[in-house]
Amino acid sequence: MTKLSVNINKVATLRNARGFNVPDVVQVALDCERFGADGITVHPRPDERHITMKDVYDLKAVLRTEFNIEGYPSPEFIDLVLKAKPHQVTLVPDTPEQLTSNAGWDTKTHLSFLKEVLDTFSSAGVRTSLFVSTDVEMIEFAAKAGTDRVELYTEPYASAFPKNPEAAVAPFVEAANAARKLGLGLNAGHDLSLQNLNYFFTNVPGLDEVSIGHALISDALYLGLEQTIHEYKKCLNR
Ligand code: PXP
Repeated sequence: MTKLSVNINKVATLRNARGFNVPDVVQVALDCERFGADGITVHPRPDERHITMKDVYDLKAVLRTEFNIEGYPSPEFIDLVLKAKPHQVTLVPDTPEQLTSNAGWDTKTHLSFLKEVLDTFSSAGVRTSLFVSTDVEMIEFAAKAGTDRVELYTEPYASAFPKNPEAAVAPFVEAANAARKLGLGLNAGHDLSLQNLNYFFTNVPGLDEVSIGHALISDALYLGLEQTIHEYKKCLNR
């Protein structure tokens, strides 16, 4: 089974626009679970522009599905994850001011740093995942760094999909096979949508989890959250 982890950053963005607790991020997360999400993802950033540190602890206290925290492993982020102890931490190489993650790790250049950070999380019992491109060498060095999983950065797939789905997915199939050979679990995320998700799921072998935020929350404006989650779950079935 491929799990659907709903990224709720955009719900926090909406809440923060007014300075009081509407929409209630924790309630939305619980409703996502009730409507069939297999997990919840958040990306707390240093400026707390969407998910706050408090949100992380509030969510941890009540979530019943898989909790995934993603972010750049600054000392503050490492401390937060070790305190909140989610099921999974996904490390991304982005800078504090970046709008959104737009590249995978250079796992070769940052091998020793990643090794140390991954070891810290593994020792605390938190499953680890590294955000990477489809470059097989980067996946090999991710394995050398000691990660449990890789998360494939799917923006290049999403942007190439409308013109040529087969060509768009090919590097991801190769990357998935490489990850599997190295004994790594496989996640994927960024710009996945109702239009491109089923084709990705059908073609990429051994997908453990997808993490989806922007398109899913946007679809919910039209379909409602419950139907939207059902539609995304349907895309994860053959
Ligand atoms: N994976 C990572 C590492 C991300 O940074 C994001 C965006 O926060 C996602 C997945 C989800 O991307 P999207 O919001 O485009 O679905």
